[in-house]
Amino acid sequence: MPQLRSANESPQVVAITGASSGIGRALALRYARNGNCLRLLARNLSRLREVVDQCEAQGAEVKYQTIDVRDRVAMAQWLCEMDQNQHIDLVIANAGVSIGTAGERGRNNYDGDYEVADTNLFGALNTILPLLPAMMARRRGQLAFMSSIGGMVPVASAAMYAASKAAVLSYGLALRASLESFDLKVSVICPGFVKSPMARRHIGWKPFELSTEDAAELIIRGLNRNRAIIAFPTSLVFCARIAALLPEPIQRFIMLRF
Ligand SMILES: NC(=O)c1ccc[n+]([C@@H]2O[C@H](COP(=O)([O-])OP(=O)(O)OC[C@H]3O[C@@H](n4cnc5c(N)ncnc54)[C@H](OP(=O)(O)O)[C@@H]3O)[C@@H](O)[C@H]2O)c1
Repeated sequence: MPQLRSANESPQVVAITGASSGIGRALALRYARNGNCLRLLARNLSRLREVVDQCEAQGAEVKYQTIDVRDRVAMAQWLCEMDQNQHIDLVIANAGVSIGTAGERGRNNYDGDYEVADTNLFGALNTILPLLPAMMARRRGQLAFMSSIGGMVPVASAAMYAASKAAVLSYGLALRASLESFDLKVSVICPGFVKSPMARRHIGWKPFELSTEDAAELIIRGLNRNRAIIAFPTSLVFCARIAALLPEPIQRFIMLRF
């Protein structure tokens, strides 16, 4: 049985996509610690199974499934089935991919852009939208979108990654406003650099990089406080906010050297 907790603490049934690795894995393990019920999803079964075992070892009741978040029908089927079985309190649309545009010999390569848009933007919609009607009807539920500080400014070396995260940020905040009258909570998470397998593939300077555990802690604290934007670390958020206000030629000058 899940433990009872005060209104300020974590919700009881938490669904997380991209739970097999990195930030999603750290969130699952952190929520498992309090004995929450978890609904975990990713594509890679063996990695997901490892996380499930670790969560169960901490006392969590876990249901899991391997689904590609781009599969709209399968996502809707599984999420609605889970929700009918036991109401989902919080869903975190965390799954994401990052494919840079810097190709061989410095030539730009945009082949991965459709995959990035499909996963980061439409995958997030496929995660959130199936649960909306039921949550609106019971006037209870919390939705979290995984964006990035990279979504606050254009990024030349990861054009669609930044664009997809900008879309998620804008969409999430709009949804927060439009669902206020239904008492639903919506947050957008904007991390800076977090030490995950995704970040390890990023070559270059990673200022103020955080561990996945620290990132999960900050995310959960923000969700418990129903923050609109959960952005960290503060110094990088400040730089991104300033950069977004600069004239385009200066933005471009900085972007091409970053
Ligand atoms: N790390 C950072 O510095 C950073 C910063 C800002 C934002 N973020 C965002 O945080 C989220 C998690 O990233 P991470 O750093 O933890 O990366 P990660 O370690 O590569 O984890 C990505 C997760 O997403 C899952 N995933 C990817 N494509 C999927 C698909 N089509 N269907 C289902 N699951 C899929 C992966 O699982 P499978 O491969 O098993 O499917 C994995 O569990 C992403 O949205 C990322 O953009 C990360």
